Amino acid sequence: MRSDQRPLRSVLDGFESRKPTSDGRAALRVPEPFEGAEPVDIDLSVHDLESRRDLFATLTARRSMLRYSRAPVRTELVIGLLQEALARDTSTWSLDEEAGPLEGFVFALRSEGLPTGVYRVTASGCSRVAPVEVIGEPEELGVQREFVTGGGVISVFGDLDRADSWAGSHGYRICLVRAAMVAYDFHMRLQSTGLVGTIFGGFIAASVRDTAKSDGVTRQPLLSSTYAHPIGL
Ligand SMILES: Cc1cc2nc3c(=O)[nH]c(=O)nc-3n(C[C@H](O)[C@H](O)[C@H](O)COP(=O)(O)O)c2cc1C
Repeated sequence: MRSDQRPLRSVLDGFESRKPTSDGRAALRVPEPFEGAEPVDIDLSVHDLESRRDLFATLTARRSMLRYSRAPVRTELVIGLLQEALARDTSTWSLDEEAGPLEGFVFALRSEGLPTGVYRVTASGCSRVAPVEVIGEPEELGVQREFVTGGGVISVFGDLDRADSWAGSHGYRICLVRAAMVAYDFHMRLQSTGLVGTIFGGFIAASVRDTAKSDGVTRQPLLSSTYAHPIGL
């Protein structure tokens, strides 16, 4: 079977030209703020953030999991891992100014320590933006029901408008690479602490359009991960 490569040509040309596909004025548009969100102090020095296994042991022991214990997970640990991954994105790529920062959201369904809820996480801070009830049916978060049977879900959001204004289709590509690096950074370190999960693309963006103030342009979910205690706990 032969594929028609012509439609792909415009995408490849876009990567090369780096011309914005929009008006290039994304810096003038900001993702909607969360008025009244409660700031949450996370102590990033807490012992839990330290890996129990090193990278080699994590890589050899790890596998993605879709069956989870329903035991609550310490949300502070999850937020801490995500915040550290976002901070590494900021320092590694140095693109926050030009192409926009990434954001993380934690959908804490079964939580120990902090209350259940929706948390917005950036490289420098965290706030609780909504109680968990606003999600409605948690199954609506993902195309697979098992995604919401553990502690919760994290999702990495990007500003596609800013990425496009920076470098057109190439900016979009880099934005996705950054989001994937943050998601896998979180996922690997999560597993190094003894928790489990899986990376997934099947997050239903429409399910959090209001909760996460996600307009699909300045704030769009790109890649997600479940987190949970392993089954048997
Ligand atoms: C970008 C991306 C999106 C994915 N989306 C899903 C998904 O929606 N559902 C799913 O079950 N697995 C998804 N996966 C696959 C799992 O994350 C995992 O890689 C796969 O189950 C293989 O298991 P392993 O990581 O133990 O090798 C996705 C992987 C990637 C890289």
